[in-house]
Parts: sequence; structure tokens; C-alpha cells
Amino acid sequence: MSQYSNIVLKRKNQIGYVSVNRLQALNALNQQTLLELRSAFGEIRDDEKVKVVIVSGAGEKAFVAGADIKELMVLDPQGAKENSELGQAVFNKVEAFPKPVIAAINGFCLGGGCELALACHIRIASEHSKLGQPEVKLGLIPGYGGTQRLPRLVGKGRALEMILSGEMISARQAKEIGLVNQVVAVDELMNTCQELAEKIILNGPLALQYSLEAVTSGLDMPLLNGLALESTLFGLCFATEDMQEGTGAFVEKRKPVFKGK
Ligand code: CAA
Repeated sequence: MSQYSNIVLKRKNQIGYVSVNRLQALNALNQQTLLELRSAFGEIRDDEKVKVVIVSGAGEKAFVAGADIKELMVLDPQGAKENSELGQAVFNKVEAFPKPVIAAINGFCLGGGCELALACHIRIASEHSKLGQPEVKLGLIPGYGGTQRLPRLVGKGRALEMILSGEMISARQAKEIGLVNQVVAVDELMNTCQELAEKIILNGPLALQYSLEAVTSGLDMPLLNGLALESTLFGLCFATEDMQEGTGAFVEKRKPVFKGK
């Protein structure tokens, strides 16, 4: 297992826990943290014992308060473009991850932090969380996917209101616009995410993987191409032992035991 200095990676009961851990900077993402996130997701991708991932921020104040402004402020245009490309590549890896990734949003979720949450498959926020894309207040624009994923999730008008005003919204407002799935009490956040993860883990791993692929890749395609992808993946399910097991267990009135094969 790799050693990380800016994140903590744990595994328990088939759940991988990735926590951004830079308390002194409200878990802001410097380049080292982005590289560590990339490595951690690579590590757990290959770990058959991990079925679902929960991403959070260390401490009680922030999920992630954005890209590290002190690191960004000295970049030249080419360096900034490369920084954006790195952040995008890491978050693309999160979005394309073959196992479900849940963001447990526990406080400030801003800029690159909101973009990390957007790349996750499901977002659950504690009620004290604040979300936003405040980059314009710094004279920048979102650079780790926010201009693309936020409007795809909440619609163009709502995304532009957030991006152009740079204002934070509450967790409840975020739920109203579909930016987060659920809002829960702070003390309940990890339990809620774990309970959801446990429900997901009961399902066929390949069916989860194909569902993620159909939705994530399909949304970037014209409808007919997305439907063709769905049919292909639906067909592939029928080549798996898991499909035999799942349908067989239903008929035999027992719980399925999936092997991910
Ligand atoms: N980068 C670097 N350091 C940060 C940071 C960030 N994004 N956010 C907070 N910090 C640091 C602060 O500088 C401070 O450090 P010092 O104690 O050394 O001064 C420490 O974290 C605590 O922060 P505050 O004292 O500011 O805490 P607060 O409770 O008064 O305010 C906050 C909290 C409203 C979140 C405020 O910290 C804030 O506005 N942070 C910046 C949010 C932001 O603009 N994010 C977008 C960054 S740009 C980006 O993300 C670009 C992109 O899309 C890729």
C-alpha cells in the first residue's frame, strides 16, 4: 500500500475511504494532493476487496475548499493550463471509476472541491455544508471540470448563476437544484454514506460497473448512441455468472451471492 502525505486511504468492510487531509488549508487541492488522489484511485481500482468508495475531507469544517490558491497564484498561463489539465484528468478518472464513488460533503465544498464532488457519482451533504464555484471572485474560472459538469447536473441557468455570482449556496439549496442527493445531520453523514454503500455492495459488481458506464458515457452521446451502448452492456450482463446467480437466486427465493464474474 502506498504512503500518502495529503490524503488518507483506508479500507473497511469492502468500502474504500479516501479523505483529503490538509487541515491547515481547509483540504485545498495542491498538485501533490491531486497526484495522491490519482494514485489512491488507481490503487483501489485494482483492489477486488473494495466495492464502493467514499470521498470526504478531513476535519469538520471542509470537504475541500478548492484548488490551492497559494499554489495557483504564481502560475503562468501555460502552467495554469497544465494545472487545469491535471485536475481534469484526475477527476475524469473519478467519474469513470468502475465502482460507485460517493462524496460525503462535510463542510465547505468550493471551487475544485465542488468539482471533485461533481465527478463523484452520488453526493450526500451534511446540513452545515456550503457549496459553490467562487473562482470569479479570484479572477479565474472553474478549471477542474466545473463549467462542464455543473450545468450537466443542475442545468445551464442554475450553473451559470453559481459560476457568475461566485456565491456559496447552502446544502439545502444544493439539494433543491439537484447538486446533492441528500442532506443529513453532521453526525449522520458517514453513517448515511455507509448505509448507502452497504446497499450498493449487495448488488452485482459487474452490473454496477456497466450501469456507471452506461449512464456516464451515455450522457455524453446522442440518445441513439447511448441506447446502443445500453443494449451492448445489457447483452454483456448475460455473459456473466452474476446474471445467472442473480436471476437464479430470484427464482429460488434466496439471496444472491455475486462474485463479480
Ligand atoms: N487554497 C489555499 N488555502 C486555503 C484555501 C484555498 N482554496 N481555502 C482556505 N485556505 C486556507 C486559508 O488561507 C487559511 O490559511 P491561513 O490560516 O494560513 O491563513 C486556512 O485555510 C483557513 O481558512 P480561512 O481562515 O479563510 O477560514 P474561514 O473560515 O475564515 O473561511 C472559506 C473559509 C470561506 C472557505 C475561505 O477559506 C475561502 O474563501 N477559501 C477559498 C475558497 C475558494 O476561493 N476556492 C476556490 C479556489 S480556486 C479553484 O478551485 C480553481 C479551480 O476550479 C481549479
